[in-house]
Amino acid sequence: MENHRLVLPEHMNHYGFLFGGYLLAWVDELAWMAASRDFPGCQLVTVGMKEVAFKKSVREGTILSLRAHRTRVGDTSASYAVSAWKDDLEIFSTEVTLVRVDEEGRKQSLPKG
Ligand SMILES: CC(C)(COP(=O)(O)OP(=O)(O)OC[C@H]1O[C@@H](n2cnc3c(N)ncnc32)[C@H](O)[C@@H]1OP(=O)(O)O)[C@@H](O)C(=O)NCCC(=O)NCCS
Repeated sequence: MENHRLVLPEHMNHYGFLFGGYLLAWVDELAWMAASRDFPGCQLVTVGMKEVAFKKSVREGTILSLRAHRTRVGDTSASYAVSAWKDDLEIFSTEVTLVRVDEEGRKQSLPKG
C-alpha cells in the first residue's frame, strides 16, 4: 500500500524541519490501513515499532511517499515494513507490528488465510 503526504508549515519544528512525531503518526496510520485491508473486520492496535532513526531532514513543501508491505503474520499479530521517500531517496524505514484485539482490548488470534 502507498500514500502521499504534503509537508505543510504546521508539520515543522522550530528549526524549519519536519517534526518526527508527525512522520511516526503517518507511518503508524499507513501500517494500520494496510493491516485493516488485509484483515477486514478486525480491530487492530499497534504494539511495536522497530528502529526509529531519522537520518534525513525534510523541508516544507516536500511530497513524501509512504509505502507499506506485510512482512510477517503470527498468531495474534502481523508486521509491516513501512518506508518514507522523498523522490528516490528513502528518508525513513521501520517495521510496525499490530495486534488484533477484542472490544476489551484483549489479544485475539487473527483469521487464518
Ligand atoms: C496489544 C496487547 C493487547 C498485546 O498484549 P501482550 O500481553 O503484550 O501480548 P503478547 O506479549 O502475547 O504479544 C502479542 C503479539 O504481539 C507481538 N508483540 C508483542 N510485543 C511486541 C513488540 N514490542 N514488537 C513486535 N511484536 C510484539 C507478540 O510477538 C505476539 O505476536 P503473535 O501472537 O503473532 O505471536 C497489549 O500489549 C496492549 O494493549 N498494548 C497497547 C496497544 C495500544 O493501545 N496501542 C496504541 C498505541 S498506545
